Formats: sequence, C-alpha cells, structure tokens
Amino acid sequence: MLVSKNVTMRFGGLTAVDDFSVKVGDDEIVGLIGPNGAGKTTIFNVMTGVYMPTSGSVFFNDSKISGRPPHKITEAGIARTFQNIRLFSEMSVLENIMVAANLHNASSLAASVLHLPGYLAREKKSRELSRALLDSVGLLENENDGAVSLPYGKQRRLEIARALATRPKLLLLDEPAAGMNPQESRDLMDFILKVRENYNIAVLLIEHHMQVVMGICERVCVLEYGITIAEGTPREIQKNKKVIDAYLGAGD
Ligand SMILES: Nc1ncnc2c1ncn2[C@@H]1O[C@H](COP(=O)(O)OP(=O)(O)OP(=O)(O)O)[C@@H](O)[C@H]1O
Ligand SMILES: [Mg+2]
Repeated sequence: MLVSKNVTMRFGGLTAVDDFSVKVGDDEIVGLIGPNGAGKTTIFNVMTGVYMPTSGSVFFNDSKISGRPPHKITEAGIARTFQNIRLFSEMSVLENIMVAANLHNASSLAASVLHLPGYLAREKKSRELSRALLDSVGLLENENDGAVSLPYGKQRRLEIARALATRPKLLLLDEPAAGMNPQESRDLMDFILKVRENYNIAVLLIEHHMQVVMGICERVCVLEYGITIAEGTPREIQKNKKVIDAYLGAGD
C-alpha cells in the first residue's frame, strides 16, 4: 500500500533522511526506530506532504503522493498523530473528532455560516458518526470534557481517534507511548491492535519504548543519522549487532 522509494531529505547541509525505502502492506504494523535525531519524524513529514523530498518518491496505492499538499494526502487515506500531542485545546473531546470528520465535507464551512438547507441534517449525522467513533475507542463517557482536561493516556487515544475520523487506510503514529508508564504502554499496545482490526488499517509506528515496538510490530526499520542500518522482524532486530551498538545499547 505505502512504498517509500529512495527518499532523501536535506536541510541545507544536513541530510536528515538518506535513501530511505520501506513498504507497508495493507494490514501491517511496521515500526520505525532509531536514536534522537535519526530522521524518523522527518520521514513522516515527507509522507504527509509537510516536506517535498530532496529526491526519491513516496507512493500510496500506486499513486505518487510525495509533493502533494497535506490535505490531498489526508484525502488519499493517510492520517497521523504528532510527537507532541496536538489537540484543539479549547474544544471538547467530541468537537475534536467532529472537526476532523468534517474535513471530508468541504462545503461545511459555508453551509454552516449560511445555515443552508441540509446543513443541520449533515451536522446531526456527523455528530452521530463522531460519537460512534468515540464509543469504539472507549472515550464516549468523556465526550463533553475539555480535550486537554483528559488524563494523558486518554489524550493520546483521542488524538488517534481524531486521526481515524478522516477514515485513513494508513495511520502514522509518532511516539504514541512517549511519557507513558508501563501499564499505559500495555493498554496502548492493545488499543493499537484493536484499532487495526476494527478499522482495517495499516500502521507505521515511531516509538522509543522497545516493549511496544517488539510487542506489536511485524517488521521494524532502524535508522541512524538518516541511514537505514537494519530491517527485519523484531526478533532479528533485537539480535542485530549494529542495532545493539547504535540504539538498544544506548540504554532505553
Ligand atoms: N525543518 C528542519 N530544518 C532543519 N533541520 C531539520 C528540520 N527538521 C528536522 N531537522 C533535523 O533533521 C534531523 C532529524 O530530525 P527528526 O526530527 O526527523 O528526528 P527524529 O528521529 O524524529 O528524532 P526524535 O527521536 O528526537 O524525535 C535532526 O538533526 C533535526 O534537527
Ligand atoms: Mg521525532
């Protein structure tokens, strides 16, 4: 489904990502790991249209998406979360979902301002769908709470739910377990597996928590200074000398 072919991203003299290639199949969970500054988030930024790669291309279901604007890539079926949670802090839990769901409804702004016929019906439908989504991720009881009043683990889950509201086929998660305790990390693992199953999606996962990566990824790519130093199953990665030296040995 997703193919990154020889993607290189330079910022001035710095090569943040060097000749990066990966494939993600329809229902796979693929991990992307590596030390700080290895280029992981930059890869997500290229895949979601924040940056145009210096060279190389990204394909999604056989169409080239690199260089397209971010909203076109969202429409094509890729959604992401951010390393630092980005929720609409003034909005409720439900509103955070509805805003994202409405991205699929281009006429909604004009229609809502003008109260065009059909707007209220669509608004009702959108609310129902958003509530169903909240229910499926276990956040319905919090629908009217302020988004940032939620405990941390639930904020992470809300951000994932918001990404799901754009109906992606591929979900890019940037360190979803950051700052979580072991129990929260375990809950998150179950949650990601459940989301994959319920929504029929693939996941590309950046994560420092090895327990999470090794627990749910079918394959793992390891980056160091923008270069892919290893790729394989979690078991192969754990035994790889280069990886141990570069990353796992660095204490995590
Ligand atoms: N817009 C930019 N302009 C200049 N340099 C950048 C830019 N974005 C990223 N970089 C640099 O590219 C390198 C890779 O950064 P990136 O954020 O992709 O790393 P990362 O693997 O996500 O690290 P972390 O684990 O700390 O999140 C870093 O040296 C970073 O400073
Ligand atoms: Mg990062």
